[in-house]
Amino acid sequence: MTIRRVNAEERLTTSFPLQAYAFETSPRSAARAEEFRDYLPYNEGNRTLVVEENGVTLAAASAIPMRQNVRGEVLPMAGVAGVATHPLARRQGHVRGLLHQLLDEMRDEGHQLSALYPFRPSFYARFGYVGLPAPRTVTFSPADLDGLLRADLPGEVRWERIGGGYQDWRTFTERCLGERHGFAIFPGYRDVGLRDRDEHWLLTARSGGTVTGAVIYRIDDHGGTLAAGDLLAGDPVARTLLLQFFARHVDQVERVTLQLPADELPELWLTDLAVHVEARVARPNAAAPMARLLSVDALAGLPVGPGRVRVELTGDRWLAGSCLLDGTTGTLELVTGAAATAGSPPTATLTAAGISALAYGVLDPVEVGLRGLGTMSTDAATELRRLFPRQLPYLFADF
Ligand SMILES: CC(C)(COP(=O)(O)OP(=O)(O)OC[C@H]1O[C@@H](n2cnc3c(N)ncnc32)[C@H](O)[C@@H]1OP(=O)(O)O)[C@@H](O)C(=O)NCCC(=O)NCCS
Repeated sequence: MTIRRVNAEERLTTSFPLQAYAFETSPRSAARAEEFRDYLPYNEGNRTLVVEENGVTLAAASAIPMRQNVRGEVLPMAGVAGVATHPLARRQGHVRGLLHQLLDEMRDEGHQLSALYPFRPSFYARFGYVGLPAPRTVTFSPADLDGLLRADLPGEVRWERIGGGYQDWRTFTERCLGERHGFAIFPGYRDVGLRDRDEHWLLTARSGGTVTGAVIYRIDDHGGTLAAGDLLAGDPVARTLLLQFFARHVDQVERVTLQLPADELPELWLTDLAVHVEARVARPNAAAPMARLLSVDALAGLPVGPGRVRVELTGDRWLAGSCLLDGTTGTLELVTGAAATAGSPPTATLTAAGISALAYGVLDPVEVGLRGLGTMSTDAATELRRLFPRQLPYLFADF
């Protein structure tokens, strides 16, 4: 049995059929197999590893070289996708072996973070991943936006197909990447699939010629749903411009749905807006994302609070050893060696998921202890809380 990296063309006969069996309607038609070739360009720069025995592919896993914002710093992130094992070869440790090698290689290439959408979070918790918030789906009637119809707003919107406006969309998501904690985007070769499929409308808000907000959407039918993706708005004016455009669909669709980060409160947008906000998390196909640090160096230089604590990292393949996390200057400094114990700073023992939960801002240190992701004194918890104030990440990319 061997693990090896497959090249682009080999995906057609190795990883793609396994993924199709795992994630699609099956048995597939011959026509579906023909479509595989069309996906090759969008997988071009992925790292795909397979387990093989006697020429048969038993398991596959891929990593997409992405970028993600953590507390203001944009870092290389390995997006794990397409994890699947042949139905006759499951529970034999194949994916464990594949993930170890895949993350080893991505880490060696400089990816300091990793994220994925799990079929079952406990499976990836064993690999040090911790849960991130699920996006919220917001539903309302365009009739409830009628107060916006005649609002005189500074700025304008542009409406076009994504195929034509893609470059503005990409530029704006790049801007969000720089500004929003947790935000992640695909590499160019993968992202252009949105442009090439050309299945969405693109609406952009603009002010003085600059794009200040963007959303993609589709309409399923007359009297149906205007289904939008993530409402990306750099400021309240941009958001209101986008909503004003949706208001003009009052006689066309019954409802508007859109995606929002967990910390957005649409009930505060307008008076008399009846709105349903939902996050549904279910196994295996409505997952909240998960993420982890692959290297403790990801923390160096992050803007943090003024805490000072020594951490011992335990139980992980990629994060080990101990160091002092010093945020007294407002920028996190990693101190190792004898200097890390000088002055006997409070100490916490953390798993990979524990330190990841704190860095991503999703758990309080006390919750890290309660969840079995670390042990620490009250003083160490206080310092960790000062270093890593809660800050909800918004992953955005869906893979
Ligand atoms: C999920 C899947 C990829 C697991 O692959 P696998 O090769 O059977 O996994 P492994 O044998 O390497 O399992 C690694 C560990 O997780 C455990 N495990 C495997 N499947 C599990 C499950 N469904 N729930 C909980 N634990 C599981 C194994 O027992 C093993 O534990 P161990 O380390 O203590 O021995 C495979 O069942 C599959 O292809 N499913 C359909 C597609 C899918 O859901 N993919 C995941 C997308 S995120």
